[in-house]
Amino acid sequence: MDQEKNKDKSGKYSRRDILAGLASVPVIGLLGYGLVKNISDRQKKQSPLLDDLESVMPKGIPAIVEGETIRLGIVGVGGRGRYLLKALGYLHPDRIDEFEKRAKQDKYWEEYLNDFYAQEDLNVKITAICDVFKKNALRGVETAANIHHNGTNGLKGEAPKRYQTYQELVAAPDVDAVIIATPDHLHVPVALEAARHGKHVYCEKPLSWTVEETYEIRKVVKDTGIIFQLGHQGRQTESYHIAKSLIDQGAIGKISLIEVCTNRNDPNGAWVYDIDPEANEKTIDWKQFIGPAPWHEFSLERFFRWRCWWDYSTGLSGDLFTHEYDALNQILNLGIPHSATASGGIYFFKDGRTVPDVLNMAFEYPQRDLTLLYSATLASEKERGKVIMGHDAYMELNETLLVIADPKSTRYKEKIEKGIIEPHIPIFSYVPGQDKVDAITTPTEKYFAGRGLLYTYRDGKTFDTSHLHLREWINCIRLNNGMQPSCDIDQSFQEAITAHMGTIAYHEGRRVYWDSSTEKII
Ligand SMILES: NC(=O)c1ccc[n+]([C@@H]2O[C@H](COP(=O)([O-])OP(=O)(O)OC[C@H]3O[C@@H](n4cnc5c(N)ncnc54)[C@H](O)[C@@H]3O)[C@@H](O)[C@H]2O)c1
Repeated sequence: MDQEKNKDKSGKYSRRDILAGLASVPVIGLLGYGLVKNISDRQKKQSPLLDDLESVMPKGIPAIVEGETIRLGIVGVGGRGRYLLKALGYLHPDRIDEFEKRAKQDKYWEEYLNDFYAQEDLNVKITAICDVFKKNALRGVETAANIHHNGTNGLKGEAPKRYQTYQELVAAPDVDAVIIATPDHLHVPVALEAARHGKHVYCEKPLSWTVEETYEIRKVVKDTGIIFQLGHQGRQTESYHIAKSLIDQGAIGKISLIEVCTNRNDPNGAWVYDIDPEANEKTIDWKQFIGPAPWHEFSLERFFRWRCWWDYSTGLSGDLFTHEYDALNQILNLGIPHSATASGGIYFFKDGRTVPDVLNMAFEYPQRDLTLLYSATLASEKERGKVIMGHDAYMELNETLLVIADPKSTRYKEKIEKGIIEPHIPIFSYVPGQDKVDAITTPTEKYFAGRGLLYTYRDGKTFDTSHLHLREWINCIRLNNGMQPSCDIDQSFQEAITAHMGTIAYHEGRRVYWDSSTEKII
């Protein structure tokens, strides 16, 4: 990509930068694949952990499979739907203007825009849009007519057709595949309708809102043979790939405990989103929003802050824990736990919501001799990590990946005794995007960026993880050879059942079990 060539020319990945990045890392550090080559043999030898550093780095990004243009329909063009449009190369002209203005004054926005313009052409076309809020639907139509990729600036495309219902959209003959970015309670109804029409599906997380529909969607996806991808774009995050390689090589030893957390402390982080002044009973098709949920009279709070009510939401477990779970399932192949317990309550945001703002869940995996703990509060920003605790070392996964040896490690005993390894100082660290200007604006954005949910790095280049995740799905559709995307329906099923087990344990105040022989929660 031209932009990256410029980066090299401008000397951004200079040796000075690399060394500066390594300065805080006594033993060995990575700043991205392109930089590994610059680490000297002496540094490599010093690493007590790895003989072959490159073996833990993920391979490059697969090329875009050639073939016919894939025609996409999108259901739900709110916050996430618009983000996914951007990941496909579509940005509203107003947004472009706004970003261009910011880019003139701020290096972060300049890089942000350049990365967007440089995204590769996935050879897709948005032919259909459906959203029950008129403003979002019209904005989606305008956005989808404005495509950017491979450095081209604002190609005018044909505007997609607007459909009043998702049922009509999925039935349209010029729709090959459907993207679902509606509230949680509508994921499965839309996905079922699409799959039954033979349309491939990219569905936002979590997979499902009820346990029953989780079985149904798995069956229909398998029976119809459509290509299904769940929207856990963390599957594309480089640090998770490295974490997996390291753990597979035994870097941290026997794992007994994993701790993952959510900490936020502002109304936005607690889902108290703004109410659009243009929203009212005339501009929102309320009946369609309700869908399978219990009937409730028109409510702007419920429409915009739907995450606060079980009627439409899956709470902390489905909304935020699932990102953590999916990362760990990717790294450790955890599968569905044997049992779950949970506690918590509505302790801070006493605003009429029904979902808890404090939630603790413990998932037992006796088959793996480990516990997975999730602990969340929406009323404290105290940073707590994603920590995988092994007998020989622990691994901390945030923006960075650190491996820190345990003083009582068996594997590193000799090296610790000889002073080659100092416990509490990282024996491995991965610090992505050191050259990037960090100007993440809101705490919620920081929350997602810290989890690798916004962007990642390959070969020293920045990629939007959602772009890569959509690209993987589109490649599988085009290949049409049975290859499945990384978050396919089996992985999605595990995600949904695990999250539901935690929620049921919370509601019932008792331990719930997974019977793997009957595939039932008991
Ligand atoms: N992968 C991620 O990192 C990520 C990030 C944010 C959100 N999400 C997921 O994306 C989904 C949407 O979240 P959001 O923040 O965009 O919510 P949102 O409220 O901003 O957007 C939802 C959109 O769906 C529309 N809608 C509601 N009912 C509909 C129906 N029956 N038919 C068509 N459109 C309908 C609404 O009008 C709205 O425009 C959620 O499931 C959420 O979990 C994922």
